[in-house]
Amino acid sequence: MVVRSSIGGINNPQELQSALVGAQYIADMELATASYLALALQKPLLLEGAPGVGKTEAAKAIGSILGRRVVRLQCFEGIDSSAALYEWNYPAQMLAIRQADESYVNIYADNFLLERPLLEALNSPEDCVLLIDEVDRSDHEFEAFLLEFLSDFQISIPETGTVRATKPPVVVLTSNRTRDLHEALRRRCVYHWINYPDTALEAEIVMTRASSVARSTAESVVNAVTQLRQQPLVKPPGVAETVEWSEAATLLNSQGAPWPEAFLRSIGVALKDHDDLEFMRPNIDSILQGVAA
Ligand SMILES: Nc1ncnc2c1ncn2[C@@H]1O[C@H](COP(=O)(O)OP(=O)(O)O)[C@@H](O)[C@H]1O
Ligand SMILES: [Mg+2]
Repeated sequence: MVVRSSIGGINNPQELQSALVGAQYIADMELATASYLALALQKPLLLEGAPGVGKTEAAKAIGSILGRRVVRLQCFEGIDSSAALYEWNYPAQMLAIRQADESYVNIYADNFLLERPLLEALNSPEDCVLLIDEVDRSDHEFEAFLLEFLSDFQISIPETGTVRATKPPVVVLTSNRTRDLHEALRRRCVYHWINYPDTALEAEIVMTRASSVARSTAESVVNAVTQLRQQPLVKPPGVAETVEWSEAATLLNSQGAPWPEAFLRSIGVALKDHDDLEFMRPNIDSILQGVAA
């Protein structure tokens, strides 16, 4: 195994953490350490956690600090290798055959190949970050296929040959853990579970992401959101909701809505499920009473 202690001028987890701040991403030391180790050991980074805790954004921020393009494979139910690797452009091939008349046409030329993210990452002329997003949405078969891809970074195209990465890309996988990932896939990666940030960190995220918001407002929203997450909600608010709720309430307040009414009137930005809103209705006043900014 080749261990590189310095990656793009980053020599340790602390330096990675500071670099991420420059990319507007606030990581705690555990996440910074896991990310640094994945880069240093040249292993895929597997980030698991609830929706909205910053997994996808972490991959983008890592791309940004390394100065690399992020190639994203968004997984979905039923995803197969043609969506992940490549497809032949059949209509274009048919047209070429018709137009060629009797003369020879190579229908397996590169211009008929539609690159999908995994092939795009292998073929990328410059170094990139490959983001395999929400891998838990795919099925076991696709996961096994991914495992193979991650072990040799090559793709065999029967009609044209094998494509191999000159240099393996930095890989980040994310999962919302709607199901358990296969042991073998997890073993290949550096694993990190992202929790909801603690209140100080989350207020910091709001201040970083929403420049118009006052710190007291950010803290109030973080307090309210933290309480909401303790309720048995269908869709607990993620960090994006905290940021947006802070912005929305700030806007309404600037237009004359007093606190805490501005929070209440913009609650649809934080709770996006009818049952959750109904469930919280009797208690929301008490939650907001304590958080008047
Ligand atoms: N640690 C963080 N630092 C800065 N912004 C964050 C952080 N975590 C979450 N966010 C914000 O929350 C949003 C949602 O995060 P995202 O990465 O899409 O969540 P996930 O992929 O885990 O569902 C991001 O667009 C970003 O604005
Ligand atoms: Mg995501």
